[in-house]
Amino acid sequence: MTVIKVAILGFGTVGEGVYRTIESHADDLEAVLGKKVEVAAILIKNKQRERNIRKNILVTTNFEDILNLPKLDIVIEAIVNKEPTYTFLQKAIERGCHIITANKEMFAHHGKQLIELAEQNNVSVGFEATVAGGIPVIQTLKQLLKINRVQQIQGILNGTSNFILTEMREKKWSFAEALLQAQENGYAEADPTNDVEGFDAFYKTMILSRLAFGEEPNWQDVEREGITSITSELIDAAEKLGLRFKHIASISNERGQIQVSVKPALVGKENPFYHVEGVENAVSVHSDIVGRITLQGPGAGMFPTASAVIEDLVYVCLNTQKDRSFKVEDTAVSDQQRSCKEELWFVHAQSNYFQSLPSNLIEQTFKQTYIIRATKREVEGLANQDKEISYFPIVGEYQTANEDKVLTAQ
Ligand code: HSE
Repeated sequence: MTVIKVAILGFGTVGEGVYRTIESHADDLEAVLGKKVEVAAILIKNKQRERNIRKNILVTTNFEDILNLPKLDIVIEAIVNKEPTYTFLQKAIERGCHIITANKEMFAHHGKQLIELAEQNNVSVGFEATVAGGIPVIQTLKQLLKINRVQQIQGILNGTSNFILTEMREKKWSFAEALLQAQENGYAEADPTNDVEGFDAFYKTMILSRLAFGEEPNWQDVEREGITSITSELIDAAEKLGLRFKHIASISNERGQIQVSVKPALVGKENPFYHVEGVENAVSVHSDIVGRITLQGPGAGMFPTASAVIEDLVYVCLNTQKDRSFKVEDTAVSDQQRSCKEELWFVHAQSNYFQSLPSNLIEQTFKQTYIIRATKREVEGLANQDKEISYFPIVGEYQTANEDKVLTAQ
């Protein structure tokens, strides 16, 4: 029987998880693919470290050793950084291998080129593990929504940030304590700045944008903010009003322009993101035929990510169809409409002196916290006058704290 030979680049949390899953699910893979899947080689950085790897597998620090293997079908990449990974994967494709990657940063930068190169070489690219950990959002968009036109995607895309926000609220942990635990659990990036400053979610959002809308915005135009401004005081003030902070990526197509933001926002109990806690991620896709679909599941960690990679392994072996070509739904919102669009905002003041807040904006007043209805321009104007306030959008409906009213953005 022929065998599918696989190389794994990197043996950190993700690489090791993939190796162990290929071993533990060997029979299932063989049943689905009709061939055995065999790990032929693993690329590592440090030869001195003890690793539990079968003796007949080539373990090397030199990628060329892997390229020179007599038979190689799939290269799975689980390293970090754009280079040398991009170069490795180009070489693997040129050698005729399918590639699978879990590297968000590299794929956000070079995914388009890798897919084009793969098409020229008649091989496939799997990138399910680049977005939302174990949630099969890429395949859902590619395979299951071939005719639907995607209008909007919203997501909680960084497990580390969501874990930190949850632990700060539930366990009253400090930001630093929660981050340390996320690192110990294997959720955080090698440099956790990427998680907490929103870069990781930004890369994932660019990948989703390209997949769902066929294009992405100018990276410089994207509003990107992490969770480092969210203090325990803000979390408590929001909780008293029945609101929770979530780090939300949002992509929509407005009049042929892709609008993207990646930033903290508040959600009320009615919003599906309210219950997305800990390391969970969620992606909500709004399309013209089906309406809204929300997928939720573990967004980081060894086996959730390995699950995405292993499902991709099957996909690249069996993929004989062309993936969907994306249709863009024009929601026809003019620039002027956009700037005049009113939203609900959670506005918090350091001290209790909010004299200057125009009363016509106020929907609800609480100690040091206000729910206001205003355009983005208006709320930015307020914050410019008064450096002691912080403001965050409320996404979706807000059921007022005494539950007598439901407020919506417009
Ligand atoms: N650091 C990432 C996260 C890992 O926390 O979501 C999964 O992409």
